[in-house]
Amino acid sequence: MRVFVDCDPGIDDAVALAYLAARPDVEIAGVGAVFGNNAVEVTADNALRLLELYGRPDVPVAVGCARPLVQEPRLAPHVHGANGLGDVELPEPARKPVAESAPELLVRLARENPGELDVLAVGPLTNLAVAVGMEPKLPQLVRKLVVMGGAVSAPGNVGPHGEANIVNDPEAAETVFGAGFDLDLVALDVTMETVATPEWLAELALVSGEKAQRTSGFLDFYAGFYAGIYGVRQCAMHDPLAAAVLVDPRLITGSFEAPLRVETAGTLTRGMTVADRRPVPSADERRPVRVITSVADAEFLRLMLDALR
Ligand code: BDR
Ligand code: CA
Repeated sequence: MRVFVDCDPGIDDAVALAYLAARPDVEIAGVGAVFGNNAVEVTADNALRLLELYGRPDVPVAVGCARPLVQEPRLAPHVHGANGLGDVELPEPARKPVAESAPELLVRLARENPGELDVLAVGPLTNLAVAVGMEPKLPQLVRKLVVMGGAVSAPGNVGPHGEANIVNDPEAAETVFGAGFDLDLVALDVTMETVATPEWLAELALVSGEKAQRTSGFLDFYAGFYAGIYGVRQCAMHDPLAAAVLVDPRLITGSFEAPLRVETAGTLTRGMTVADRRPVPSADERRPVRVITSVADAEFLRLMLDALR
């Protein structure tokens, strides 16, 4: 499969890239960087460094949007470290980003092979919304879009109802959810049920080699952040779970389909993902999204460890 990854690396973005890079059946056709966990220059630079670490140094990396469509950007150095990778320093990348912007690269790749490109979006959806503006047929040109974002029934992580990727650009998310993609949503409802346990992190720390050791360093920082909230040194695996269900939908054990909208006006709920699950036929004519509610979590964690060995 050919995958375009739109991301804001980002510790869990890094693990998603590691997983895709380790799969011989996945061609990473391009990586788009977006603001989010850090400024876009930093997330693009991290993507280049990570692709070298994970053995895919030829994948083009394109710089995307530096700010949301409407609001001011907010970054997350307290979650992902000042450098976006848990303050673990990776070597200077040998390459620079390509000249095309991330939305341009995505549109070109989708047009080149209609119906063949898959898209994994694990940052704010700004690049995708801009790409849809450039090419309104993008949802038909792309085979499948998997988005990590939202909190449908679960609590948010940056507000009572808000998940970071959606809250970071609610207008962009609303555009993407309404564009007509064949879209699977991996929200906090499932990612917070699929955390890397202290035992899993300890096992990874014992794996030798640059790839495992650096990634273990990133995740150790992330676990420190989560320990401050939950009192246990474990961490969420949001973005890698989205990568895993894209590559291997067999992992999905529960889901429902519903039209999905993003609250863009609420004072308490701006960025909330609202699924219309009423049993009556919905008046909402937008294409329903498949919201994933459960996965084979032990198998997922095993796949991640195997990819990092
Ligand atoms: C999402 O927000 C980012 O901080 C993570 O990389 C992930 O994509 C989780 O809410
Ligand atoms: Ca991310």
